[in-house]
Amino acid sequence: MVGSAGAVGGAILRGLAADRPELVPWITYRSDPSPLERLGEEIPGLRSARCDLVEPDSLAGLVSQVEETAGAVSVLVHAAVAPRLGPMLEVGHRAVSESVASGGLSLLALVEAFDRLLEPGSAVLYLTSIGSQRVIPGYGSVGAAKAVGDTIVRYLASELAPRGIRVNAISAGPFLSKAAAAVVGDTGALMAATAAATPRGRALDLEELANAAVFLAGPRGTGITGQVVVVDGGIFNRWVL
Ligand SMILES: NC(=O)c1ccc[n+]([C@@H]2O[C@H](COP(=O)([O-])OP(=O)(O)OC[C@H]3O[C@@H](n4cnc5c(N)ncnc54)[C@H](OP(=O)(O)O)[C@@H]3O)[C@@H](O)[C@H]2O)c1
Repeated sequence: MVGSAGAVGGAILRGLAADRPELVPWITYRSDPSPLERLGEEIPGLRSARCDLVEPDSLAGLVSQVEETAGAVSVLVHAAVAPRLGPMLEVGHRAVSESVASGGLSLLALVEAFDRLLEPGSAVLYLTSIGSQRVIPGYGSVGAAKAVGDTIVRYLASELAPRGIRVNAISAGPFLSKAAAAVVGDTGALMAATAAATPRGRALDLEELANAAVFLAGPRGTGITGQVVVVDGGIFNRWVL
């Protein structure tokens, strides 16, 4: 799990660790390792390392550490996002490029770095969002990053299929996180609005997101590759005026 050391990373890792206890769980952080302390108490054998996806040396260091402890990789999850918020012309080309590098192109860097450790039957998952297809005000830098990531998912899925490696994206509905707070500020209002707009009357639960990741990465998901799977409780199909 590379990117989110927060709520979503923890939920997916907990799900995978419960479903496949034989795996050696790894999680990375970029700036703040503190969320990993609690996670370490919940997930036996959890390993962690610092990794910045846009620093080749940092990525290479992670690969070496994983290789030493695990030997090969069965599930590789990219959950990094570095939002630069505001109208695209105000955020500007440089900042949008950095966001695309951190949140989109870095999927290619990650898979490239771990390529030799990915075993047949392994799965790569990329966390994406509806912002790659629809306009969310102020979210253009992330939308552009996710559009790049979604495209990389489709191409890598095709190119890695002969080796028995699958690549999919999960497009998640809104959930509470540090990144969500940076996007909207008032996350309470966001989650209340999300619940109200979701046909079933409640927002996505992180465990539901983790269940989708476990399914896609595991033996029941072998027929699915190169897809952006929407896991949103039904909110984005809804016509809102
Ligand atoms: N929250 C939502 O509503 C939502 C909806 C759809 C999809 N998603 C996706 O779910 C994933 C997890 O996001 P989240 O909302 O849970 O936010 P989060 O907790 O803030 O996680 C994003 C993480 O990405 C890390 N990161 C940023 N740039 C990085 C880089 N260059 N190298 C390594 N790590 C980097 C950040 O590390 P630092 O904090 O140390 O910088 C942060 O821990 C993201 O891909 C996000 O786009 C979220």
